[in-house]
Amino acid sequence: MSMLPQWAMDALNILTQLLVLALGAAALAMIVMYIIDRAQTADAVRRNYPLVGRFRNLFTTLGEFFRQYFFAMDREELPFNRAERDWVYRSAQGEGGTVPFGSTKPMDKAGTALFVNCAFPLLDDHAAATEPLRIGPHARHPYDAPSFFNISGMSYGALSKPAVQALSRGAAKAGIWLNTGEGGLSPWHLEGGCDIVFQIGTAKYGVRNAAGGLDDQRLRDMADIDAVKMFELKLSQGAKPGKGGILPAEKVSAEVAEIRGIPVGEASISPNRHPEFDDVDGLLDMIGHIREVTGKPVGLKAVIGAHGWIEDMCEAVTRRGTESAPDFFTIDSGDGGTGAAPMALMDNVGLTIRESLPMVVDILERYGLRGRVRVIATGKLLLPGAVAWALAAGADFVQCGRGFMFSLGCIQAMKCHRNTCPTGVTTHDKRLQRGLVVTDKAERVARYADTIRSHVEMIAHSCGVAEPRQLRRKHVRIVQENGRSLPMSVIDFMPPPDGRNRPGDMPSQP
Ligand SMILES: Cc1cc2nc3c(=O)[nH]c(=O)nc-3n(C[C@H](O)[C@H](O)[C@H](O)COP(=O)(O)O)c2cc1C
Ligand code: SF4
Repeated sequence: MSMLPQWAMDALNILTQLLVLALGAAALAMIVMYIIDRAQTADAVRRNYPLVGRFRNLFTTLGEFFRQYFFAMDREELPFNRAERDWVYRSAQGEGGTVPFGSTKPMDKAGTALFVNCAFPLLDDHAAATEPLRIGPHARHPYDAPSFFNISGMSYGALSKPAVQALSRGAAKAGIWLNTGEGGLSPWHLEGGCDIVFQIGTAKYGVRNAAGGLDDQRLRDMADIDAVKMFELKLSQGAKPGKGGILPAEKVSAEVAEIRGIPVGEASISPNRHPEFDDVDGLLDMIGHIREVTGKPVGLKAVIGAHGWIEDMCEAVTRRGTESAPDFFTIDSGDGGTGAAPMALMDNVGLTIRESLPMVVDILERYGLRGRVRVIATGKLLLPGAVAWALAAGADFVQCGRGFMFSLGCIQAMKCHRNTCPTGVTTHDKRLQRGLVVTDKAERVARYADTIRSHVEMIAHSCGVAEPRQLRRKHVRIVQENGRSLPMSVIDFMPPPDGRNRPGDMPSQP
């Protein structure tokens, strides 16, 4: 040490003193924290294990982030596991949906849908293109929807500006529609030039009058926009049946507030149902009114629980004439996604799409309305198998929300309600939005949609049909508890004709 020059000795002295000071401060801080932990009454672990108990909170928070990288198996996580997310990432990056070695999906689990391949699949050059399908034949401006796979309603507000911009541009590129969700129409939805489905939620954001009711002039203005092809009246959403939209105050920026027609910085809570009607006649009146004012197809969106009201609605349509029917029926799954919803509803209320879709299709069939009311299925239908299943079960279209969020770069950090989304998908924080580069992500959105469509076509061809809409329930077998499968066509999803009266069955209003 004595060999060191004086300046180095001085620096070493200062460093030693700083170290002693830092250690002293740390020791003091630990003593203070120890006393605080012992004295506080709110947290039992910290009270019993002062200082050490604090690591529990830290690890719980970090665990949420690290689990998916280090500990979770490929098929373990919820709502979407790594295998599912990775498939979307790869297809969005244009790497195709091809994987090596073998499936990690347990194919013998009860409820699994297996497609029935035929001995002589269709030769690729015999495959047919999926034709556009008309929605709203009685509207003044019917919509010939080009794609069977589209983007589900996610509001501007829940989603960030660059996310909506990328979805709009990607949707235009892929030729699919973009549903606005209930937050109204922003300039960013229109930016890419895609087809738009305008959703009318219970608060009528974007088309509301000062009293919060429907403003016909604003509806007309909305319908005058050529890109707006259809209107979707939202009754309920899978993640929160019986509860309106929730946009936390920190996400109500000046722009979001202006588009919605609400005050800045106050939580945006929409009513838990449309106050204008409380029965199927009122619902059909409202649908008829919006169709009359806008001249465009009008449908409804709901998650299914009680089903008697659907039969009531079909009976009312039969009475009034088929023109009065909703032009489409979007069925959301009880395990659908959301920007923010109470866990009590998210975890417990509403049937999943696996049960509700075939049931609604069968009810429409029973009343001869199957072709008149186009069926749109949504809820965890983000991989080709699930989309093909929905088409085979009777859906005309599939809408996907969270699959497209993954294509935008969502890492399932599950902070969508906080304005701190690390990937910029659901935050209005400009710093975090920088991560989402619109031009790059728009390409990914389009590539994801294209890959889904081509892989659903592959499943259809393997089953011997020329295009996905020719898939039928006979092409699917559902694995039962005993590990053996049954054709989906023999499974009874249908409530009996007097279903509203069957003991234990759910009527319109239980
Ligand atoms: C961030 C986010 C926002 C959403 N906003 C709406 C909305 O405004 N209106 C609506 O009807 N559904 C909304 N949804 C639900 C989706 O449209 C869809 O029904 C549901 O997530 C199921 O589809 P998925 O599993 O493909 O996401 C939202 C979902 C997410 C994830
Ligand atoms: S990364 Fe997390 S917070 Fe952002 S959209 Fe995805 S789940 Fe929500």
